[in-house]
Amino acid sequence: MKEFIVAIVGASGAVGEEIISILEEQNFPIKKLIPLASKRSVGKEIIFKGDRIPIQETTHTIFKDENIEIAFFSAGGSVSSEFVPSATDSGALVIDNTSHFRMHENVPLVVPEVNPDDIKLWKNSGIIANPNCSTIQMVQVLSPLHKQFNIKRVDVSTYQAVSGAGKKGMESLINETKDFINGDEKAKIGVFPHKIAFNLIPQIDIFLDNSYTKEEMKMIKETSKIMHSNFEISATCVRVPVLRSHSEAISIRFDKKVSPNEIREVLNNAENIIVIDDINHSKYPMPSLATMSDNTFVGRIRSDYFDKNTIHLFCVADQIRVGAATNAVRIAKKWLDIGLK
Ligand SMILES: NC(=O)c1ccc[n+]([C@@H]2O[C@H](COP(=O)([O-])OP(=O)(O)OC[C@H]3O[C@@H](n4cnc5c(N)ncnc54)[C@H](OP(=O)(O)O)[C@@H]3O)[C@@H](O)[C@H]2O)c1
Repeated sequence: MKEFIVAIVGASGAVGEEIISILEEQNFPIKKLIPLASKRSVGKEIIFKGDRIPIQETTHTIFKDENIEIAFFSAGGSVSSEFVPSATDSGALVIDNTSHFRMHENVPLVVPEVNPDDIKLWKNSGIIANPNCSTIQMVQVLSPLHKQFNIKRVDVSTYQAVSGAGKKGMESLINETKDFINGDEKAKIGVFPHKIAFNLIPQIDIFLDNSYTKEEMKMIKETSKIMHSNFEISATCVRVPVLRSHSEAISIRFDKKVSPNEIREVLNNAENIIVIDDINHSKYPMPSLATMSDNTFVGRIRSDYFDKNTIHLFCVADQIRVGAATNAVRIAKKWLDIGLK
């Protein structure tokens, strides 16, 4: 099997580190791994398959100089905007974890369990975009249900972990919690707009003219693009003091009555979904259970009290893996199968 020269742009970050681990775990065919980040990380090393590999600075020329064939980008939208063209110009496939290219018409936005065939469109731009983390776990659940029962409307409320804002998000929760416990009155607020320790914040990203946040609009627009669907959807995104794994309460209205057992049956057969729904023993998905897993967990499946066409459920996934790194590696593996042909 052919082996590839693979770069990780953002190798020192939360998502980049996880991509490197997953490439190793899954034995992805790699001839040479090239970790890239900012100047700040030059001198640091990553460990891949027992080898210490120095992190290099991301430059415009490195993609050509190193003959990079696959480049995973997870260093923020502005870095993708600046450096992705250099990577694609030199012939690399770019799998981009940032929001920069997601809604570009020529760029496929892919969750392999949902729209694998869109990977074939990679040739238009050389880029495949990885969706927003909250969107990925939601469409994994919605897609098999839509195929079977035809969704009319979705309302989702998210409970998003601090690591969704990268390593600085995690540091913020830990430091604010320590300060609180130490009784430090002048405790500094971290990267979030308010204190996150012992609090929650109903704002992720900036507010837009329609009073939704950018994160909420990502969930709405990206869902339609990935699922090629036009059902109504609304989102409320909330940051919670959880270190890792996003949770979502999802209400789904179908065009006819659907029972919780029918939902369970479909989801039990869906790819990379695990149903945990045993309320008599208090068993349901939680962030602590989903963390470090590559599956998306669903539970609390029940009919609406009034409207029997509506089902409510609770969905949890490790957003650094399922919502970013695992999805990116799954895209790369599918690209080997169907994109290269
Ligand atoms: N965290 C999540 O759950 C998640 C989920 C889905 C998507 N994403 C997206 O993935 C991206 C990375 O997120 P993250 O959580 O991994 O963030 P992070 O932990 O803050 O890491 C950011 C990475 O970007 C690098 N970087 C920053 N400025 C750079 C520059 N000018 N040139 C090259 N590299 C630069 C950093 O390198 P230095 O260490 O050298 O500064 C670091 O490796 C973001 O676009 C985010 O929206 C994140």
